Amino acid sequence: MKQICVVGVGYVGLVTAACFADLGNKVCALDVDEKRIENLKKAILPIYEPGLDELVKRNMKAGRLTFTTSYAEALEGAEFAFIAVGTPSGSDGEADLQYVAAAAKSIAQNMTGPLAIINKSTVPIGTGDWVADIVKSAQPRPIDFSVVSCPEFLREGSAIGDFMSPHRTVIGSLHRDAAERVAQLHLALRAPIVITDLRTAEMIKYASNAFLATKISFMNELADLCECVGADVKEVAAGMGYDARIGRHFLDAGLGWGGSCFPKDVKALAYMAKDNGLHPRILDAVTDVNYSRRSEAVRRLDQMLGGLRGKTIGLFGLAFKPNTDDMREAPSIDIVEHLVRAGAAVRGYDPVAMDVARPILPAVEMFKDPYEMARGCDAVMLITEWNEFKQLDLDQLKSILKSPIIFDGRNIYDPRVMREKGFVYQSVGRATGA
Ligand SMILES: NC(=O)c1ccc[n+]([C@@H]2O[C@H](COP(=O)([O-])OP(=O)(O)OC[C@H]3O[C@@H](n4cnc5c(N)ncnc54)[C@H](O)[C@@H]3O)[C@@H](O)[C@H]2O)c1
Repeated sequence: MKQICVVGVGYVGLVTAACFADLGNKVCALDVDEKRIENLKKAILPIYEPGLDELVKRNMKAGRLTFTTSYAEALEGAEFAFIAVGTPSGSDGEADLQYVAAAAKSIAQNMTGPLAIINKSTVPIGTGDWVADIVKSAQPRPIDFSVVSCPEFLREGSAIGDFMSPHRTVIGSLHRDAAERVAQLHLALRAPIVITDLRTAEMIKYASNAFLATKISFMNELADLCECVGADVKEVAAGMGYDARIGRHFLDAGLGWGGSCFPKDVKALAYMAKDNGLHPRILDAVTDVNYSRRSEAVRRLDQMLGGLRGKTIGLFGLAFKPNTDDMREAPSIDIVEHLVRAGAAVRGYDPVAMDVARPILPAVEMFKDPYEMARGCDAVMLITEWNEFKQLDLDQLKSILKSPIIFDGRNIYDPRVMREKGFVYQSVGRATGA
């Protein structure tokens, strides 16, 4: 049993805290958001993540997981402090490190014993050294500490499984003993452990996210060509994916990536390259291809309908991906903006993200049921591939739509079936569905 402090109880921090507690450690999780902590003390979670509610409650009950807004309380007796605060995009695409700096300073001012300060936030290369400088200069008296990078690779929607069974644990530090202590903490996860220097660990995280984003953008670029030449991008992905050198994951063409990580991480990596006098051609193209999917989807719907002005469009799904309520950089946001600008009225339904989406998408009329939403719509767009949309009653859907027009932005339906059922149906990169 180790004593751990986790700073920041967002998607990463809360999952990290709950999982380490579940592994038998004593975890105190801290946030500057008083409302968040007040709610968490009552076991009310700030986010939707499958399985997290049960995990948090169980470990709170067992006394292994507590919450506080006090750094002094969170650090009392802690051997490890994980920083898991946000690193959003700054105005030029650089990572905004103000929350990391504030967390480092507060840790320095409140630590009372030797500490491994572990960066779980995704931070630009060199941040670990910078954090060490902040801590050193903010400490009221010198106390031993080491800065370790341990980037997080979990995916929202499957965060607990990803945390508990990672593909690998990456640990970077200039202090071998600190790296080994952090490695010990992760041994229970039984994953390969890569121990390296701080900067390399920081780069591994950016490189991994940017590469995954590249795979998706690559397939999206290919999707357009598939349509032109009469190929099916879904089958192409399946055929490519059997090759172990390529892998099947992140080959799905559609509306592209969004969320709290890929957009800001690709931009931040490109920014670092430019800052070093380089020209990140691939990274820039990866972003360009991604964002063009959103306007392209609306352009195609416009074509299918013969104009959007005065039309009512229903959106199936709003979250940036299934199994999360995260709306950060969700494709739905840009799509709604394009639709509204073209004069359409927009409706929305999402199994869990509507409460989060409401203030972000005030122009969208929200419905509690997908069929109610679709009733009387001129067309629907499938935005997020939640499972519940995969088995919709298509006959019922067709009977309640004003016109049976569907743009399937995630390729979840079979073009042949849709045609047989009498839908005007388009998907992405499947000539047969066009
Ligand atoms: N969300 C993901 O899927 C994911 C996956 C891997 C890595 N990451 C990285 O992890 C980091 C955190 O991401 P997230 O999505 O969990 O962020 P988030 O926005 O959901 O949560 C951040 C939390 O930090 C708190 N915070 C801010 N400043 C603080 C301070 N000084 N002291 C204490 N708490 C403070 C905020 O109140 C908030 O609750 C980011 O760098 C992100 O890139 C995220």
